[in-house]
Amino acid sequence: MESPAGGAPAPRALPYYVALSQLLGLTAVATTGAWLGLYRGGIAWESALQFNVHPLCMVIGLIFLQGDALLVYRVFRNETKRTSKVLHGALHVLALVLALVGLVAVFDYHGRQRYADLYSLHSWCGLLVCGLYFAQWLLGFGFFLFPGASFSLRSRYRPQHVFCGAAIFLLAVGTALLGLQEALLFKLGAKYRALEPEGVLGGALGLLLAGFGAAVLYILTRAGWRRPPREEEQALSMDFKTLTEGGGPGSQ
Ligand code: HEM
Repeated sequence: MESPAGGAPAPRALPYYVALSQLLGLTAVATTGAWLGLYRGGIAWESALQFNVHPLCMVIGLIFLQGDALLVYRVFRNETKRTSKVLHGALHVLALVLALVGLVAVFDYHGRQRYADLYSLHSWCGLLVCGLYFAQWLLGFGFFLFPGASFSLRSRYRPQHVFCGAAIFLLAVGTALLGLQEALLFKLGAKYRALEPEGVLGGALGLLLAGFGAAVLYILTRAGWRRPPREEEQALSMDFKTLTEGGGPGSQ
């Protein structure tokens, strides 16, 4: 398959996997909205519905947008690195803002209702995910968007950034599943065993979240689907290698 810009051809199967991931992700977002609308009274800030802002923001921000941010370099493979970086960073900023709104919503709601804070495995994993995500964002910004970082520092940090990005995303999906299970059990109690419609819809939402996570991780881990460096980027990295390894005209 030839790319329109004359760059590297996209692997044949990649568009199908990307389409599948988007179908799963968007259906998960729509199902979250349907669940909250049909069974939880919708969302609002200044009322008992404030809690519902939490799952909606977390699913859109920390699952869907974070997952899509990870796919930017695979999907926009023939754009300049700068364009991909800006899009990757912008999606992460949006995800971070939504995650903060979701966190404020749940803590504020717990405070108003005088519920205990941070007692569950879900809440501990949730704080860990948010802390790691924020740290990853700051480090990513410092190394890749801040002009002061050197080429060699960026190259050494890149593999850690890629690994941590995938690990944090995986942890976010697991945390959302724990939270969903908890929310269903809190409300349905013993009725959960009777396959109540809300329990079944919640279970389907969990499978969609897990499916989206698996599709994103599959695309990320295919070595042949990585973004190939453009010619000018390759030339730049050769120049750098020559300089640092002493292969220049003046060296022996
Ligand atoms: C990756 C996404 C998520 C993160 C990072 C996250 C984080 C958190 C945190 C830190 C708390 C503690 C609030 C407190 O102690 O006052 C919490 C509470 C809660 N979350 Fe989430 N959450 C996520 C997704 C979800 C989802 C999708 C649901 C589904 C309904 C959910 C349901 C709950 C429930 C029921 C509570 C209150 C009980 C508890 O503290 O465990 N969460 N969440």
